[in-house]
Amino acid sequence: MSNNSSNQMWGGRFAAGPDAIMEAINASIGFDKRMAEQDIRGSRAHAAMLAAQGILTDNEAAAIREGLLTVLSEIQSGNFEFSTALEDIHMNVEARLKEIVGEPAGRLHTARSRNDQVATDFRLWVRDQFDAVEQGLLALINALLVQAEHGADWVMPGFTHLQTAQPVTWGHHMMAYVEMLGRDLSRVRDARKRMNECPLGSAALAGTSFDIDRHMTSADLGFDRPTANSLDAVSDRDFALEFLSVASICAMHLSRFAEELVIWSSAQFRFVTLSDRFSTGSSIMPQKKNPDAAELIRAKVGRIFGANVALMMVMKGLPLAYSKDMQEDKEQVFDAADNLMLALAAMEGMVKDMSANVDNLAAAAGSGFSTATDLADWLVRAVNMPFRTAHHVTGTLVAMAESKGCDLADLSIEDMKSVHDEITEDVYSVLTVENSVKSRMSYGGTSPAQVRVQIQRWKDVLA
Ligand code: ARG
Repeated sequence: MSNNSSNQMWGGRFAAGPDAIMEAINASIGFDKRMAEQDIRGSRAHAAMLAAQGILTDNEAAAIREGLLTVLSEIQSGNFEFSTALEDIHMNVEARLKEIVGEPAGRLHTARSRNDQVATDFRLWVRDQFDAVEQGLLALINALLVQAEHGADWVMPGFTHLQTAQPVTWGHHMMAYVEMLGRDLSRVRDARKRMNECPLGSAALAGTSFDIDRHMTSADLGFDRPTANSLDAVSDRDFALEFLSVASICAMHLSRFAEELVIWSSAQFRFVTLSDRFSTGSSIMPQKKNPDAAELIRAKVGRIFGANVALMMVMKGLPLAYSKDMQEDKEQVFDAADNLMLALAAMEGMVKDMSANVDNLAAAAGSGFSTATDLADWLVRAVNMPFRTAHHVTGTLVAMAESKGCDLADLSIEDMKSVHDEITEDVYSVLTVENSVKSRMSYGGTSPAQVRVQIQRWKDVLA
């Protein structure tokens, strides 16, 4: 709405209010009201510090701190009227504080600017998201560990190029995602540690002439230390970009797993049955049970990585220090955080609920000549054949089995000897999928024993 009186927060030099379009493009209150709690927390810490430094009286600070709690409860109970004319959460809160406590409210903005204020609020908000993602990851990892432990020795086909490659174990496949999510966890923790510095007191860009105690506000807000350069502090959004890039990689992992669940739950594979709780039906085809949750998780990486790219583009080329461009940071991060949390929770639910169809997995594990590599390895070990030659001999046997329409294990010993006369009955022992996976005892390999070693390692790490 157009307004002919100038802004009560900064309107001293203005004769007229902004055009309606100016107000619409300028206002961020529509989204940054999500940082109300962080804004009030930061302001309460600032007021306490100003009083401790003798910049405000104790009475003034007490009135401000009390009044801010009233504002917070109004916002939390939905009894707060947000105003677009007041642009953003910072000015909305301050204006309401003025109505509640009067004159002292005008002293709150001493020795700070909206530039260090928004940088502080947003860091607090993003820090909470890092913590929430950490919890979401831990919950999903634990659900995967339960699946892995359950099926440490269930055999299933391992794929390359989505073509049957070698038998692996269900537990091994689950643990592959534990590794990926474990790296996400370590990226979350690493980035959170790096971002935990407090910009408050950097003021507009140059610091302040008031004798403030930045260590006090930093500690009060749970930061490790104050930021060391005021120009950088008010214009840095690395913490948001790191959140988005960590979120993008994590969402990419979830997307890969989601794609596998879509394939595995199809009528052609039937490797897993997803629960009704995480599936939907079709309004026209009564037989359908669709893996919508998995499909949506698969898609989320698109918007999350989109947010990452968008904020990179907003930040590139910005001169020091603050520019209003940076107001465009929040919606991207809010949306990415909401959707990553949703994706993590939905994946956790699906993993907890899903049941592996062990017989189908085993049948598929044995098809497609999946133990051909075991046969070649046997030739190397038993006949001392160079691997290249063994590969060739095995290929000939695969072609023979294929033409007979049978598996490798169904070839007679005469058939085998016709290709290479040193092959003995002993070869059949390596052609079963159970023996194939059991033999993959190398560290990090798919044998149930190795899988159990890794499950235990993760349990110890997470304990
Ligand atoms: N709403 C603004 C933002 O999100 C707050 C900072 C405004 N600073 C300024 N100098 N206009 O970035």
